[in-house]
Amino acid sequence: MLFLFTVGTAIALALGVYLYRSGTITIGTVYLIFAYTTLLERPIQQITRQIEDLQQATAGIARIRTLFQVTSSINDGKGTTVPSKSLSVEVQDVSFAYTEDVPVLQHISLSLRPGEILGLLGHTGSGKTTLTKLLVRLYDPQQGSILLDGVDIRTMHLSELRQHVGVVTQDVQLFHASVRDNLTFFDASIPDERILQTLNDIGLDSWYTTLSDGLDTRLAPGGNGLSAGEAQLLAFVRVFLKNPSLVILDEASSRLDPATERQLEHAIDKLLQGRTCIIIAHRLATVQRADTIMIVEDGICREYGSRTALAQNSRSRFAQLLHIGLEEVLS
Ligand SMILES: Nc1ncnc2c1ncn2[C@@H]1O[C@H](COP(=O)(O)OP(=O)(O)O)[C@@H](O)[C@H]1O
Ligand SMILES: [Mg+2]
Repeated sequence: MLFLFTVGTAIALALGVYLYRSGTITIGTVYLIFAYTTLLERPIQQITRQIEDLQQATAGIARIRTLFQVTSSINDGKGTTVPSKSLSVEVQDVSFAYTEDVPVLQHISLSLRPGEILGLLGHTGSGKTTLTKLLVRLYDPQQGSILLDGVDIRTMHLSELRQHVGVVTQDVQLFHASVRDNLTFFDASIPDERILQTLNDIGLDSWYTTLSDGLDTRLAPGGNGLSAGEAQLLAFVRVFLKNPSLVILDEASSRLDPATERQLEHAIDKLLQGRTCIIIAHRLATVQRADTIMIVEDGICREYGSRTALAQNSRSRFAQLLHIGLEEVLS
């Protein structure tokens, strides 16, 4: 583009000189031709830039369109409702595989009374996270069923199911949006006072004071500028604000340093009050909250029972894990 413009200016200049020589125009007109030509430079550059932007936007729109054309293979339920209190969870003989001949979960059954806490233990790759994905219907099991408060989750509206279940995972997705929208998922009905109170409860009050615009501060995409620990704590705030009946903590505190994790302990206690919960954890302190323990190995339930009973039975895997140290064995 710059080349074309240089050529254009040269031609204008040459033409001016030629016409001046032949006496057709005055030196003033030559200057005018030259000045007008240079005046064109900036708008032409702007047009070029905007054409480039337009091309990028068109490509973006095409990608968004293909994204919208993707349909979920999960069918929305007809809409059986369950009350918003702590819910019982019933997993009945569930088997699941991502690809046909590689079973990830096999004949898993468990039941949680309202308010009960399950500690789910197992090596990496044993299928713990997969089980939590089935509970929010990111996938449907090939066999068996999952019931919340006695209602098969396949009959519930997906939106309602996901309103009832709050999940904190290890990797936290933050949007390029305000702190408020990041925490409330754009739910404008949550008042600022509640957000601030929750930030306080979680121990993020000193982080909050460093924000230039308070809740309106925009977070960078991917949450740049936040430590992994802070991002994790924000994920806890999200779940608090959502006020779910079933809470799933999937190695939620694994990225926190021990000091931050201790700070979070009382927040977790508060979060779990009156809620049914599934905790996947490596640290003993976190597992000690659990009423029941399930140990999975390669998608198969190896041990399931009351935590205190398993801890007292010296032949149980759980007791052995406690003896050797969970962290060493499971990480
Ligand atoms: N989206 C996926 N597609 C295919 N295989 C997967 C997917 N997610 C997990 N897996 C496989 O399923 C198994 C269980 O994974 P996961 O549930 O994440 O285990 P855990 O949480 O216990 O570490 C692993 O072998 C893993 O490779
Ligand atoms: Mg996992």
